[in-house]
Amino acid sequence: MRLSPAGGVRLAGIDLSQPLSSDQKDAIVAAFVAHQVVVFPEQSLSREQQFAFAANFGEVEAHGAHRPADKAGGKAGDKRYAVAHVMTNLDADGNPTVRLSPAANYHWHTDKPYRARPPLMTLLHAVELPPRGGDTEFANTALAYESLPDETRRRIAGLRAVFRPAFDPSGACADHPLVRTHPDTGRKSLYLGNHATHILGMAQAEGAALLGELLHHATQRDFVYVHRWRIGDLIMWDNRCLLHRAVANYDVLRDRRIMHRSVVRGTAPF
Ligand SMILES: [Fe+2]
Repeated sequence: MRLSPAGGVRLAGIDLSQPLSSDQKDAIVAAFVAHQVVVFPEQSLSREQQFAFAANFGEVEAHGAHRPADKAGGKAGDKRYAVAHVMTNLDADGNPTVRLSPAANYHWHTDKPYRARPPLMTLLHAVELPPRGGDTEFANTALAYESLPDETRRRIAGLRAVFRPAFDPSGACADHPLVRTHPDTGRKSLYLGNHATHILGMAQAEGAALLGELLHHATQRDFVYVHRWRIGDLIMWDNRCLLHRAVANYDVLRDRRIMHRSVVRGTAPF
């Protein structure tokens, strides 16, 4: 059952803490390609089990140096790091704090587009949630591309967007096609959002304005699926044809929110 015209499908009755059969894996991949966001309700799985589930779909990024205890970082293949990483608004003492909640998550974005090989898929498992709110929104940028006037499609064909980490303006950047082609479906979609700073070979202001105009188009409500989380939901989404954002519609200074996150590597956009 498609959850909205923009995408999303719910797959119940699969226990993701257990190894998948090849039929289950095929069904999940088919649902992912067809609906871009797959919701698995009522899942109970450890961070290690989540990492193992994600590994069905490609190379999973190792648990990085995101938290003080993990400053040493990790290498893929090292068992200590074969776990989903923890995203939380709690500080080291377990108290809600706005400081650790990355502001960039509240802007429309695709994950890590400033990499040469940006992620294919992100998985989030809801472990603790605010009593209400804390939604995640997804915008389908294939629908957005397909609804552009022909003239605009011609104007943006062949352009490359430059991406730089919004939280680290001095960080390395990458450029990718503004209109990318989905490797599984052949569908074209817009690749932009927060971290996209300008268009290669175009005046900075002109490129930024074009990106702003396209982002406005891409995130209109008709193209958006809003996920209202329930504890135990595990969702996986396609970073190649979706933008997403966290909605700050909960009290980040009072309510606890803990999610476990895994990221599957992708290939260079084309
Ligand atoms: Fe994200």
